[in-house]
Amino acid sequence: MHQRQAVIERIRRVSAGVQRLELAVEPPQRALSGGQFFLARTTATYDPYLREAWLPVALNDKTIVVERPTRYQYLPNQVVDLLGPLGKPFPLRNSARALLLIAYEAAPSIFLLMLQSALARNSAATLVLIGQAQQYPLEALPSALEVIRAEHYETWAERAQHIAWADQIFAVAPPPYDLPAYMRLLEDAQRVRHAVSAELLYGIFQPPMPCGIGACQACLVRLQNGDEVPACTEGMAFDLTRVNLLQSLADSAGA
Ligand code: FES
Repeated sequence: MHQRQAVIERIRRVSAGVQRLELAVEPPQRALSGGQFFLARTTATYDPYLREAWLPVALNDKTIVVERPTRYQYLPNQVVDLLGPLGKPFPLRNSARALLLIAYEAAPSIFLLMLQSALARNSAATLVLIGQAQQYPLEALPSALEVIRAEHYETWAERAQHIAWADQIFAVAPPPYDLPAYMRLLEDAQRVRHAVSAELLYGIFQPPMPCGIGACQACLVRLQNGDEVPACTEGMAFDLTRVNLLQSLADSAGA
């Protein structure tokens, strides 16, 4: 993990709500996998105090492309302070030939880098966009991807078939949607597949991350074995059979 300066070389508006920033970083970032991210500070002050999570969607020879909502404004040649790459690569299995990706109320940007690798080795991938995620521009997605839209989780008509079909499933939902969404998905997977094996079903946890290095304990995820582990260093994807979703839901209801 490094702290480094990046320069915004190019800004491309992908749609009304999505823009992509091409960042030149020094030294060039060559090792970066789907699921890893940066914490960025765009001002010299601590206002805002929290850095923003910037998600890489493509990696070029000398630049990294990140995706940001257009409600944030950036300028060419603007210097950004980056912390990272943070987190662990998504545990995509080499043998996974059928990949199901689910975005609840969130842009699916976090999947795009992993998708490049999966599609390059001819895996089939289906992306389900639920709720606000339906606003994501289809033209920003790889053409080989099957995309399904649903207003609500319950109106995703063929979800049992998709869940049964997949070799691996990754779901992303922002807090506070994450815990209920992952609980419902795990229950569905248990019902459809009878048993959910390890390394099948992952939820992506994106709590606020003040430090990004596992020091402040603000981003802990509670596991079934009683451990609490930081999402910033051990995530952001967690095997949902290992997460104590029931206790986490009870904790969040009492918070
Ligand atoms: S952000 Fe501080 S421990 Fe994860």
